[in-house]
Parts: sequence; structure tokens; C-alpha cells
Amino acid sequence: MDMTTFDTNGEFASNYKFLIGSILPRPIAVVSTRNEDGSNNVAPFSFFTAVSAKPMIIAFSPLIRSSTGEMKDTPKNIFREKEFVVNFVSEEIVDQINTTSAELPYGQDEFQLAGLTPIDSEKIKAKRIKESKIHFECIYRDHLSYGDEPGCGQIITGEVIKVHISSELLDSGRIVTQTYKPVGRGAGNDWILCDHVIQKERLMGAQIQK
Ligand SMILES: Cc1cc2nc3c(=O)[nH]c(=O)nc-3n(C[C@H](O)[C@H](O)[C@H](O)COP(=O)(O)O)c2cc1C
Repeated sequence: MDMTTFDTNGEFASNYKFLIGSILPRPIAVVSTRNEDGSNNVAPFSFFTAVSAKPMIIAFSPLIRSSTGEMKDTPKNIFREKEFVVNFVSEEIVDQINTTSAELPYGQDEFQLAGLTPIDSEKIKAKRIKESKIHFECIYRDHLSYGDEPGCGQIITGEVIKVHISSELLDSGRIVTQTYKPVGRGAGNDWILCDHVIQKERLMGAQIQK
């Protein structure tokens, strides 16, 4: 097989394009936080994963903004407020979620820009997105930073202390993918629909499926 190779000590952009072209489909965390003046901030992050089931921990990675070299509003808010909500994306709200990624001046509300409805959380002050079908209320746990230059990333972890799931997604207490219609992120401007699901038997027979 003919392989193209490259070293990763060049430009940010060449590393970035192979990261986002290789690691896919990527789940998307739509993170809502509270600004210093009490207004709302929302932005999507596809460098996102599950880390631990109990305690229930998730992680996502905001990069230093490549256009300005500044930390994004989401991490700024999380480090101050110590809490955030992860909202999930389904097909119905892709356009609105894409709109929330706009780089607005600090303090301007992406809920309003995108036509999304903020609703109260139960345990934290950051708002949830009503139009999203799953919400995780999170308390900031810790972070790792990999530099202060444009394109440098950091990992932020949060402990999920409350989960909200639209009941229509559930069958016998489990989320049904085809009803949920989750959407992932691809390379460039690609978004990936999960409209073709296949199943495989688990091979470890001894494993207990709860
Ligand atoms: C689907 C999608 C996924 C994104 N994923 C990330 C990501 O993982 N990390 C990141 O730093 N920016 C990501 N962005 C860009 C941010 O959403 C964008 O920089 C946003 O303006 C940050 O907002 P904030 O300053 O309010 O935090 C993504 C954008 C889109 C549309």
C-alpha cells in the first residue's frame, strides 16, 4: 500500500487537518456556560469523549483560538464558574448548533443568535438547551494544558451530576440510536448522520451485559 507520511513539527494547520480527517466520526459536545455578567454562552466541541462511568466523567478539548491566540470563552467561563452543561446534537438542530460556533465578542449570547431556548438546570446555574434531547449537568473536575500558542489544546474534564434524556428516545430504559438521530463531526465542513447502524455480537461471552 502506498502511504503518505509527514512529521508533526510543522504548521498547526497541517496537523489539524489530519487530526480531524482521521478521528471520525467525532461526537459533539455542545457546551453551555454562564458568562461573568450572568448571560449565556454556547459552543460545540468535537474533541470530546467519555472518560469514566462512575464517577461519571466526560472530557473535551478547547484549543487556543487560532485567529487571536486567546483562550475561548467556554474554558474561561468554566475555570471561573466551575460548572457547565453538555448538550447533545440530533439531526433536527444541526443548523442551530452550527450557528453557535460563531465567534461572537465575549458576553454575546449564542442561544439568541441560533434561536435556541435556554432552560434552567436542576443543580447548576448554566442553562440547558431545550431543543437538545440529552443534557449532562457537569461540575468542573480538572484540566491539562498543552501550551498557550494558537492551536494548542487542553483537556477539560467534568463530572456529570445530573442527566436529562427526552423520554421519547428511550425503550426499556435504553437510548435507541435510530430515534435519537445523533450527528457527528467529520473533516472540514462535514457532519455525519448515524442513519445506518449495524450490529455485531459481543465476543466475550463471560462479560456481563447489564
Ligand atoms: C461541530 C463543531 C465542532 C467544534 N469542535 C471544536 C473543538 O473540539 N475544539 C475547539 O477548540 N473548537 C471547536 N469548534 C469551534 C468552536 O465551537 C468555536 O471556536 C467557538 O467560537 C468557541 O466558542 P466560545 O469562544 O464561546 O467558547 C467546533 C466547531 C464546530 C462547528
